[in-house]
Amino acid sequence: MTRISRKAEQFTESVIREMTRQALQYGAINLAQGFPDFPAPDEIKQAAQEAVAADINQYAITWGARDLRRAIARKFATWQRVEIDPEREITVCCGSTEAMIATLLAIADPGEEIIVFEPYYENYGPDAILSGARPRYVKLHPPETPDGEWSINPDELRTAFNPKTRAIIINTPHNPTGKVFTRTELELIRNLCVEFDVIAIIDEIYEHILYDGVEHISIASLDGMRERTVTINSLSKTYSVTGWRVGWAIAPPELTAAIRKVHDFLTVGAAAPLQAAGAAALALRKEYYEQLAQGYTERRDLLLAALRGAGFRAFRPRGAYYIMTDISAFGAADDLAFAQYLVQKIGVASVPGSSFYSGRGGEQQIRFTFCKRADTLATAIVNLQKLRT
Ligand SMILES: Cc1ncc(COP(=O)(O)O)c(C=O)c1O
Repeated sequence: MTRISRKAEQFTESVIREMTRQALQYGAINLAQGFPDFPAPDEIKQAAQEAVAADINQYAITWGARDLRRAIARKFATWQRVEIDPEREITVCCGSTEAMIATLLAIADPGEEIIVFEPYYENYGPDAILSGARPRYVKLHPPETPDGEWSINPDELRTAFNPKTRAIIINTPHNPTGKVFTRTELELIRNLCVEFDVIAIIDEIYEHILYDGVEHISIASLDGMRERTVTINSLSKTYSVTGWRVGWAIAPPELTAAIRKVHDFLTVGAAAPLQAAGAAALALRKEYYEQLAQGYTERRDLLLAALRGAGFRAFRPRGAYYIMTDISAFGAADDLAFAQYLVQKIGVASVPGSSFYSGRGGEQQIRFTFCKRADTLATAIVNLQKLRT
């Protein structure tokens, strides 16, 4: 009677969302889940209100309102220099979360493999399992110095590719490490995708959150990749509206046709008035993105210095809004015990590193987010100083 599916048995509840619940329970500052606690831009809130008032309140076209798809195509051409057809190559979904699972359900079969770099954003493992495919993990190696770069071993990557490989998921800028994949790394991945006839799925929801002058490269813009790439993005992080649940997948027409079918039966569509507001968001001026990155650079610098001052070996992120840390210096039993101590006794919620690994790994790592107001970060920093006493 109470049996659950073999698929559901294979993964646990989200640790990140659980840490948010614990932050509330213990009254701790939530540096666990990546949602901003500051307001979204006025222009786009206004656009959402106007859309509701104008009665854009019924189902949108299942694969996305035309204005939003056109805005997505314009923005992709401007920023990534890739021309796409909004009529045949975009599916608007309920966040990039749905775009990812709809894509995997549309392209993968049982017995096939999906390559995922580890540590990874925790949804990808369950996503692959739900699609029936098997995730195959390739290590991102931590830098030797805290200011260095997380790296791929090309031999390990090549070994992961085989005739069963259906797709590779690339998240750049990367959660949880802050790694931004370089052109050389993406070309290496491109060459393997072409050789083994594999689809690249790129999750680029942090594309505008970049530091230290690094450049985000969309793998679809590399020669030979446009026809074998699914580019996933959303409003969530770029416009600070994680609760709106509007994202999209850009893919060649045949793949898009399959993604649209799956999406239709999963959710029918994303919220219509918020899709209308999304079109306004994507039309914001270039300065908006510069200010976004500038604001996050200040927050990153603040939290990085505070974590290092409190005794963490904190890795400098080049993009996204997380700091991965090594906690070895504290002599804790493991990441789970240390995260419990932080939330209950220090007053800061974080995410235990092991939740970004499939098997062993991350037991001496903890992730913090800094997508918070200056006063939230200031309180967290005061609390973290208790670790020194
Ligand atoms: C890498 C990555 N992908 C996807 C998501 C979820 O995005 P969305 O709100 O668009 O579903 C997150 C959220 O933290 C993320 O870090």
